[in-house]
Amino acid sequence: MRKTRLTKKLPFVTVKYAQSLDGRIATSTGDSQWISSPASLKFAHRLRRDHDAVMVGIGTVLKDDPGLTVRLASGSDPLRVIIDSRLRIPLAASVLSTKAATGTLIIAGEGANQKRARRIERTGATVLFAPREGKTARVSLVDALSALTDRGIRSVLVEGGAALITSLLSARLVDRMVVITAPKIIGRGIEAICDLGIMRLKDAMTFSSVRIRRLGPDVIFDCLI
Ligand SMILES: NC(=O)c1ccc[n+]([C@@H]2O[C@H](COP(=O)([O-])OP(=O)(O)OC[C@H]3O[C@@H](n4cnc5c(N)ncnc54)[C@H](OP(=O)(O)O)[C@@H]3O)[C@@H](O)[C@H]2O)c1
Repeated sequence: MRKTRLTKKLPFVTVKYAQSLDGRIATSTGDSQWISSPASLKFAHRLRRDHDAVMVGIGTVLKDDPGLTVRLASGSDPLRVIIDSRLRIPLAASVLSTKAATGTLIIAGEGANQKRARRIERTGATVLFAPREGKTARVSLVDALSALTDRGIRSVLVEGGAALITSLLSARLVDRMVVITAPKIIGRGIEAICDLGIMRLKDAMTFSSVRIRRLGPDVIFDCLI
């Protein structure tokens, strides 16, 4: 059991991303749509439907402007959560559109601009302030997850990007990893996971169970930590 689970009640966290055979989630220009096949995209929408909330970092919103809705499966949309310590989200972002905003929660760092928060809330979205991570400007992810528990959220699907996934893994806040690997080579690009400070192979992260399946041309690793 994760240490944080012992002290704080946190939702079950699934990290999901699509990567190339060489472990990239985007090209060097940040282009990531779409790495995986149409069959895997449908699978990703079913995963979304099966979680209470879907979460991305602000970097992904700025680059991809995702809708984070369930479109390729039947069922209702999860709560959309954006980790955005400085409230950089554009008011024109898809997750703040008329249809989506009421189901969107932006988690900012304490001390972020209140005026900006009010402007964002006028779209219908909710802005929540969470403590910052140590001395950084970034949102404390334990506190963000704990705030989601307080709102009745029991499961969160994290859909990227690299910085958010890396922080969650570093903080040992991930319960399940679903990695869709497509038979494509990108070369230099954005790595799915950045530095975790692991120097020796014996310290590599491993899993308590691993399920492997094929979906069209892609291979899906579904791993429990
Ligand atoms: N292939 C896939 O499945 C997939 C999925 C999603 C995204 N992507 C790609 O990934 C790229 C974006 O990744 P990214 O790494 O730039 O952005 P990201 O992980 O989406 O967002 C990172 C940003 O979140 C904010 N943040 C706040 N608190 C944080 C914390 N504790 N830890 C980490 N981040 C925190 C930081 O900005 P502030 O300090 O300003 O808040 C940080 O720069 C895009 O190219 C996108 O296309 C690929």
